Amino acid sequence: MNVISVTNRKGGVGKTTMSVHIAAGLAHGGMRVGLVDTDSQGHAGLMLGMPQQDGLYDVLIHKKPIEEVAQHVAKERYSTKDNPAPGELWLLPSYRQTFLISHNLGEHETFSFYEAMEAFTTRFQLDAVIVDTNPSLSKLDSLIWLGTDGFIYVTELNRLSIDGVEQALLELQRFAQLRQRYLNRATHVLGVIANKTQKMPKLHRNNKKTLEETFGRLLWEPVPRSILWEEACNDFENPQTMYTYAPSSNEAKIAMKLATNAWRAITEKQDQG
Ligand SMILES: Nc1ncnc2c1ncn2[C@@H]1O[C@H](COP(=O)(O)OP(=O)(O)O)[C@@H](O)[C@H]1O
Ligand SMILES: [Mg+2]
Repeated sequence: MNVISVTNRKGGVGKTTMSVHIAAGLAHGGMRVGLVDTDSQGHAGLMLGMPQQDGLYDVLIHKKPIEEVAQHVAKERYSTKDNPAPGELWLLPSYRQTFLISHNLGEHETFSFYEAMEAFTTRFQLDAVIVDTNPSLSKLDSLIWLGTDGFIYVTELNRLSIDGVEQALLELQRFAQLRQRYLNRATHVLGVIANKTQKMPKLHRNNKKTLEETFGRLLWEPVPRSILWEEACNDFENPQTMYTYAPSSNEAKIAMKLATNAWRAITEKQDQG
């Protein structure tokens, strides 16, 4: 099982954008992929033009079987007719009731997200599950951390978002111990994406250096700020991924490269055991 959470304790840095593009990019690489939205705004599904539903709530609280709530994402949503993705993508959607999950979870539900991811993986024979997280720190988030094999951090090159990564790393250490003790599973940092970078002002250069010193080769190539990202997802009539909005753009290539990086990191994690 490969459950990969895309995270930062700060909002607006590009977690959802990167989650959706990595998940769809993996399907372009021929993988069978699950995408889990854990945010009550349901933006991951929205970006793929999928109907908004409380799928995660239904699985965790109503114990509905995953195959009843997972949505198959049609290839036209994330690839063109000339170049259809050879893989498959399923979405476990979230909507407004997601924020009630923590409140309505029973006492002994510590591993319910982990178990849901196991069911998702088995039922659809998934190569990887990408989890789009939200910036809160609720009981649901603890469950997500316990069910995560690898983290991808998304950050802007400013103090507040780097601080968000540092806080997320501290959480990782806490939950990694629990995962080892109760599940006998390691937790990995797969990569760090510096997003919305600009022609480096001095501040950004310095912050990039700090990230390089902390993460070394885990720091992937930065994703430059570009209006195309906003244009693609902000069209209310027809929100799209970069793979259909501007398939031959540099942004689409960058997105594909992120998915390749993610797959390489997942494979290396498997080799490490
Ligand atoms: N590289 C980028 N350049 C410009 N805008 C971006 C970039 N990445 C993301 N965005 C935009 O930033 C906004 C927030 O992104 P989102 O993925 O929703 O962040 P989060 O999930 O962390 O809250 C969206 O409007 C998105 O289109
Ligand atoms: Mg988001």
